[in-house]
This record gives sequence, structure tokens and C-alpha cells, in this order.
Amino acid sequence: MFKANANYLKLPGSYLFSTVASKISQYCEENPEKAGRIVRLGIGDVTQPLAPSIVAALHGAVDEMASAETFRGYAPDLGYDFLRETIAKCDFAARGAAISPDEVFVSDGAKSDSANIQEIFSEDARVAVCDPVYPVYVDSNVMAGRTGVYDEATGLWSNVSYMPCTRENGFAPELPHPDEDISLIYLCFPNNPTGAVIDKPRLQAWVDYANEHGAVIVYDAAYEAYITDPALPHSIYECDGARTCAIEIRSFSKNAGFTGTRLGYTVVPHDLKDADGVSMRDLWARRHGTKFNGAPYIVQRAGEVVYSEQGARETGEQIAFYRENARIILEGLREAGFDVFGGVNAPYIWLKAPNGMTSWDFFDMLLNQVQVVGTPGSGFGPSGEGYFRLTAFGSREDALEAVSRIKAL
Ligand code: MLT
Repeated sequence: MFKANANYLKLPGSYLFSTVASKISQYCEENPEKAGRIVRLGIGDVTQPLAPSIVAALHGAVDEMASAETFRGYAPDLGYDFLRETIAKCDFAARGAAISPDEVFVSDGAKSDSANIQEIFSEDARVAVCDPVYPVYVDSNVMAGRTGVYDEATGLWSNVSYMPCTRENGFAPELPHPDEDISLIYLCFPNNPTGAVIDKPRLQAWVDYANEHGAVIVYDAAYEAYITDPALPHSIYECDGARTCAIEIRSFSKNAGFTGTRLGYTVVPHDLKDADGVSMRDLWARRHGTKFNGAPYIVQRAGEVVYSEQGARETGEQIAFYRENARIILEGLREAGFDVFGGVNAPYIWLKAPNGMTSWDFFDMLLNQVQVVGTPGSGFGPSGEGYFRLTAFGSREDALEAVSRIKAL
């Protein structure tokens, strides 16, 4: 009789956002009269429609697919040159970071890349993650059999190094002790879920640590578009030496509304080599070639337009809109007496649940009493217990309504 992959059986419960979604469905079934009243600020899904320039590019590309002369079949599995060249120029060269187009791997999104990237590292690579953390980094390593044994009581895996991000340390992870012999460090800035940011000297310290100790940083920069402070780095490649120790993952979801359209990319520099001189860039290319047939042509054309003058203006307006939501939520809850963090240079607001409540108790209270949905902080890791995340990606009405209902509690 066949057997399931035992690593998958180690995964505790369901994926965080699936659990939240099923709780909402259950609530709606039990309280149909309240279903229409729910304000959803849980998962970080955008709500603004695609910008006009992006829609025009999609239409144009669909028309190309309708004619024999311009029809495209399989996309190049690493991405079309027009998009990779634009990314190298606009996201990196423009910020003084030297990344060549053939180090850019276009994909169907940052979530899959951040889950898949661990595949090119050894099975016994020790992983370090922030706590709280975007659950995909840990779960994908669980599936790969790298994380050891799960302790139900602490919510920790035996072979994972956790870097607590707490109010006391300003939600900033500390460098792991060198004896921990870390191979893979996941960092995300602006951070999901805490909304914390990192300045260049601190990011440089991570790069120096990784180079010194032979580790790789997987840098998730999915939220970089929310940075307004000119002192903050948008890319890890703005730091000296990052080409030999860092992989960067980017998304078109949060800056241009592609959550449903799907587009992202990963940068793996030629200079990133393992202990035996193996090129991680070539391994990732090998993996991509075997497991992926390229993001759709029409979507890559739409992604290219994000960098045009009109595209940048239109998407910039959407980002400003979400930033204003973040400000409304942050200031509103602060006025109401909550301890609130993040929300500046970041689309997530991280708040302390009142009166020592647990994250899930606060979730249930908000859902049951005022029909506001957020994400329980403990779902992102043990150090998130007692915290709660709200997203700025809702409509303006939702942001205002959520604040006024929470205030009224
Ligand atoms: C989140 O809510 O944390 C994000 O939307 C998840 C994601 O981007 O996959």
C-alpha cells in the first residue's frame, strides 16, 4: 500500500489563512444575517482594480495571442528578456545595485518562489527565521523534511533557529549565534507580519554576517513599494557583498495588484556559490527549467507596463491609497488606546491584543462582536502570541469602518 510523504504529516493544522477563511465561513453559516457586515482585513489581498495601463497591456497581449503572426507558445522558463531587462534596470541599476537580466527569474509569484527556493539547499541545511514569520518559509522547510520535531507546547521546530521579534527589541531580529551554524536565513522587510523595517546599516550587518559565516539570506522584499523613508533600502543588493550571500524575492502583488494575476521574480546572482563552488544561480535555473514553464506572456507584458511612466504613476496612486488606509488604522487604533506598530513604510498594522487576551481570543471577539476580521499574531509564530495583524489593503470604507467598530468595543 502506498504511503504519504511523512514530512507533510508533520505539518500542524492547516495553512494559517485557510484556517482564518474557514472560521469566517463557519461564522457566516451560523450567523447569516451578519455575513454581509463582515469587514475583512485578514489576508493581505489587494482590493483596488488593476490600473488602466496594466489592463490595456493585458488586452494588447491577448490580441497578440489571437493572431498567428504574434502568437506565443511556451514562455522562456526564466522569463521574457523584455521583462528581465526592465527589472534589472528599474529595480536594481536605478538603485545602484548591479544585477544582470540573466540573474532575474520571472515566476508566478513570490509565495511559490519563497516556498520553492529551499529546494536548492542541502537537506540538512539549518534554517533561521524571524518569529513571528510568514508561515510559508517554515512550512516549506517542514515539507522538505528539514525542520526536525514539532513541539506542540512551544510551537517550535527542533531544527529551526528562531529569531524573536518582540516589542522589547523593536521587532528587529538579532544575528544568530555563530555556533548555530545557520545555512539559510529568511528575512522579510518591510516585514510581514509586524510592519517593521530595516535600515541600511542593520541590513549591511546581516550581509556581513552571512558572508562571514557561509550563510545565505533569502530576502523577501515583497513590500518594498511601501517604503517612503529615503534612508531605508529597497533591495538587499544595495548592501556591499550581497551578491555573494543573498537571494531576493519580489512580487507584483502588493505594488501593482497582481494577487489574482500572478507575477513575481527571484534574483539569484552568479556570485552566489556554495562551499564547493556550485553556482546557486545555475541550480535555480535548472530547477526552474524542470518544474516551471514560465509565467504567461500576457501577464509578463502587463508586468512590464508597471515600470512605464503611466504604470508607475497609476500604481503609485494605489500604493498611496493603501498607505493612507494604514495611517487611518494606525492612528485610529492608537487614539483608541491600543499599542500599535508597523503601518508606516509597510501595509501591515501589528497591534497588541488588549487586556492580555490571546491572539485567537481577540480574533473571535472581533469577529463575533463587531464582525471585523484580522489575522491572529500567534499564527505567525509563538512570539506573535498576544498580537494581531490588520492589513491596509482593504477599501477606504473598510479601513474607516474597522477602526470605528473596534473603537466602539
Ligand atoms: C499575507 O496576508 O500575509 C499575504 O497576503 C500572504 C501572501 O502574500 O501570500
